Amino acid sequence: MKTFYIETFGCQMNAHDSEKVVGTLVGRGYSQVQTPDAAGLVLYNTCSIRDKAEQKVFHRLQQFKREAGKGKVFGVLGCVAQQEGEKIFERAPHVSLVCGSASYTKLSELLFQIESGERRVTGLSLDTEETFETPLTRRDNPHRAYLTIIEGCDKSCAYCVVPFTRGPERSRTAESVLAEVRQLVDMGYTEVQFLGQNVNSYRDPTRPGIDFAALMRLAGQVPGLRRLRFTTSHPRDFVQEIVDAIDENPVLCNHVHLPVQSGSDSVLARMRRLYTRDEYMRRIEWIKRSHRDIAITTDIIVGFPGETESEFQSTLSLMDMVEYESMFSFKYSPRPNTSALTLDDHVPEEEKTRRLTIVQEKQRAIQIRRNSEMVGRVQEVMVEGFNQGTGQWIGRTSQHRTLNFTAPVERSPLAGSYLDVRVTRSSPNSLAGEMLTL
Ligand code: SAH
Ligand code: SF4
Ligand code: F3S
Repeated sequence: MKTFYIETFGCQMNAHDSEKVVGTLVGRGYSQVQTPDAAGLVLYNTCSIRDKAEQKVFHRLQQFKREAGKGKVFGVLGCVAQQEGEKIFERAPHVSLVCGSASYTKLSELLFQIESGERRVTGLSLDTEETFETPLTRRDNPHRAYLTIIEGCDKSCAYCVVPFTRGPERSRTAESVLAEVRQLVDMGYTEVQFLGQNVNSYRDPTRPGIDFAALMRLAGQVPGLRRLRFTTSHPRDFVQEIVDAIDENPVLCNHVHLPVQSGSDSVLARMRRLYTRDEYMRRIEWIKRSHRDIAITTDIIVGFPGETESEFQSTLSLMDMVEYESMFSFKYSPRPNTSALTLDDHVPEEEKTRRLTIVQEKQRAIQIRRNSEMVGRVQEVMVEGFNQGTGQWIGRTSQHRTLNFTAPVERSPLAGSYLDVRVTRSSPNSLAGEMLTL
């Protein structure tokens, strides 16, 4: 029997790509196993966003060096595959398949070549016009479905590998997106999350009048859909209509992830982010003026080349102004092919670490304060599961906060159901509460 194991690194786009890859393999008669030892085909779907992420796959492959020639086949997929291409065969000679995400439309063909005994096959073309869609997608979560609406990225942020690893932007037609949303609802999904590196630049290739806000409005009307989310938004392409759409329809979740990266105009310019601090803050004002309580989250990079202490302070002051619900923060990591490599004046590692710690401590204080303001409020959650360790149910609010709660034994909720929970306690990263029983 043909067996495979897959491990996935990186962002939600990668997680969802793996669901499509798993579907494609199952469709070819493979069955999934839970350890690399038990598998005939071992796949790593890789991330290259920071150096640490890239190193993970080479560590994994190193562990299996002895297996070379013993019949086990190794494949590297995703962003490191696209970035390193055939060089992977030199670093890890036991690898047989190297395929970037823009070539997954050819995955079935490549697998056929491997099955026919070819030793090395690659899918590395970036000039595809197509997006990878498959009716065979095997989704991991039975209630919340990821759905890619746009692939690739046409921005050229100075630090970022994504335009090189995922290629140019390609939007799906609204018709195919909406058909899939309807199909997902028919299958029992109540939450859909639209994915793209920059969902805001979505535009229907056949009907250019349908932009991202229009697509959200249309999808939000699909009967039976309870929640619609999206990630990620680029601030430059974030328009007021997106907030208006959220305002109009409670199915659209009250959460916007709007990565700022830095609060300093000079750093934003060096990063080629295409917006200023003021322009970013204008978008924050639109969101805060909404009659819905829209949670705002972000990403921050500290220690970008040449970042001075006063530029760093600008990031801290912006954090005070916005008061994000949560954030991901990173030390700048130099990446292959990116234009930031030509900048000098690198911030020393210890200084990056110091700045990261300051950002994270400030954010923790903000979250402690903001989460404590939630105590006493009633929130609707989707039940995600039960935590045996704590005896609590795990819920997710529309704002994408985790809200763990207790429920009377005789009223045990079902995973996937929606119910109201009163928040009784808060911690920096989550809320706790009790199910309302009236
Ligand atoms: N498309 C998204 C970002 C995807 S990458 C956007 O434009 O916002 C996710 C996050 O990783 C980025 O927001 C950024 O904060 C971080 N990141 C990307 N490249 C990085 C690098 N070279 N070093 C450190 N962090 C990086
Ligand atoms: Fe990277 Fe910038 Fe594209 Fe986001 S918008 S994926 S940070 S290049
Ligand atoms: Fe990583 Fe590629 Fe996503 S680099 S963050 S897996 S787009």
